Amino acid sequence: MTHATKVNLVVDGRPVAVDAGLSVAAALARAGDGITRTSVSGMARAPLCGMGVCQECRVDIDGRRMLACQTVCRDGMAVTTRLPHPARQAHHLPGTAP
Ligand code: FES
Repeated sequence: MTHATKVNLVVDGRPVAVDAGLSVAAALARAGDGITRTSVSGMARAPLCGMGVCQECRVDIDGRRMLACQTVCRDGMAVTTRLPHPARQAHHLPGTAP
């Protein structure tokens, strides 16, 4: 019996260990609810196509906005999910939640 090598990530500040070779999108699904970002209207989004087309899987990885479905997990990677859509940030009104 062989054991898969584990890779350690930090997802939204929480340590997560997943099998090496997984995409970040798969790691997010295994580690939680798989939500990657929020839409302009604030709705939760998750990977849809899994092949780099829909852009629904955008997350910040080590400070860069990347596609979770096209990124293989690396040891020490820091992933941030649920970031507001840039349009929401740009049009944020004083006194409302971003
Ligand atoms: S899931 Fe569609 S681009 Fe990643």
